[in-house]
Amino acid sequence: MKVEEEVGMGHKTRKDVIHTFQVNFFAMCLLNTFPWDFLDKELTTSKTSDIIMDILQKTCLHPICLKNPPSLKYRRRFLTELIKKHETIAAEPLDVLYEALGELMFGQEEDLCYKTYLLPTGDAVSLAENVALISQGTTGLVTWEAALYLAEWALENTHIFKSKTVLELGSGIGFTGTVICRSSSPTKYIFSDCHHTVLQRLKDNITNCLTNSDSNSASVSVEELDWENVSVEQLQRIQANTIIAADVVYDPDVIACLVKLLSRLLNCKVQENHPDVYIVSAVRNPQTYDCFKKELERAGLRHVIMKDSVTQVFPYNRTSTIEMIKIYV
Ligand SMILES: C[S@@+](CC[C@H](N)C(=O)[O-])C[C@H]1O[C@@H](n2cnc3c(N)ncnc32)[C@H](O)[C@@H]1O
Repeated sequence: MKVEEEVGMGHKTRKDVIHTFQVNFFAMCLLNTFPWDFLDKELTTSKTSDIIMDILQKTCLHPICLKNPPSLKYRRRFLTELIKKHETIAAEPLDVLYEALGELMFGQEEDLCYKTYLLPTGDAVSLAENVALISQGTTGLVTWEAALYLAEWALENTHIFKSKTVLELGSGIGFTGTVICRSSSPTKYIFSDCHHTVLQRLKDNITNCLTNSDSNSASVSVEELDWENVSVEQLQRIQANTIIAADVVYDPDVIACLVKLLSRLLNCKVQENHPDVYIVSAVRNPQTYDCFKKELERAGLRHVIMKDSVTQVFPYNRTSTIEMIKIYV
C-alpha cells in the first residue's frame, strides 16, 4: 500500500507535522515523541479542528490502520491524547474522534499487533509483531533498532545486495530483509532463524509483504539455521555472497558459536571470493560486545567499524549506541 506524502522526520510545515504523526503512529513510537507542541500552536492559532481531522485520517482512519492496526492499547492512548488536545479549543466536539475511540473500548487486547514503516518511495512495510519485547522465550518476535539501522544503511548501499545471494542470520520477523528485497534486487535472499514461532511469523510476514510486491524479483526462502548446529551440507548449499545480521550479539552464551559460524561462512568462497559479512549491534552491554570482538580476534577474524552516516528514514530512538562492523578473514 502506498502513502502519498514524502518521507521526512523534520516537522517544520503543517504537512510535515501531519506526516510525522503518521510515521510515528504506524511505527508505534512513544507518544512523547510526537510533535504535540506544533499541534497545540496550530490549534490555538487556527481555532478549528482541521488539523485534528487531518491527523485522524492519516492514522486511525487510514486504510493501513484498518488492515494492519497498531495495538488496541496504543490506538486508545493515541486517540485519548488527540481528544484532550481537541478539548483545549472552544470548538464543537468532533463526533468522529469519540466514535473512533468508542469502537476500541470493548475490543480484546491481543498479543499481536502490526507495525508499519514507510519507505522513501512511500510504500509501506507492515509486519505482525508481538506486543511484548520478549515472549515465548525469544527476542525474535519484534523489530529491534539495529534492524532499522541496517535497513537504512541498505537503502543507501543497494550495490552490496544487488544481484547477490544474501544470507541473513537471526532474521527475527523479517524487517531488514523485507526492505532489502523491496529496494535492492538481490538474486536470492535467505532469511534464517532458529526459533519455531519466529520462523512461522517470519514466513507469514514475508508472504504478506513480498509476494505482492512488483519490485521484488528476488527468490526468497526461509531456513531454520541454528548457529550451534549447522551442517557442512547446509553451509555448502547456501553459497552466499553477502551475509548480514542485526542485533545478534546480546547473549554471551551464544557468542562463541556465532563467531565459529561466521568463520566457517567466511571460508566458504563463492566463485573464488570470500563473502562480505556485516553485523550491526545495539551496544547495550559493552562487556558482551567486547567479548564478541575478542572472540573474533581469537578466531583470526579482522573487522572494521563502518562509520557511514545514514539518512534517517525510520523513526526510532537514536540515543542508543549502534555499531556496524564488516568482518574479514
Ligand atoms: C534480538 S533478535 C534480533 C531480530 C532481528 N534481527 C532484529 O534486529 O529485529 C535476535 C534473533 O536471533 C535469533 N537467535 C538467537 N540465537 C540464535 C541461534 N543460536 N541460532 C539462530 N538464531 C538465533 C533469535 O531467534 C532472534 O530472532
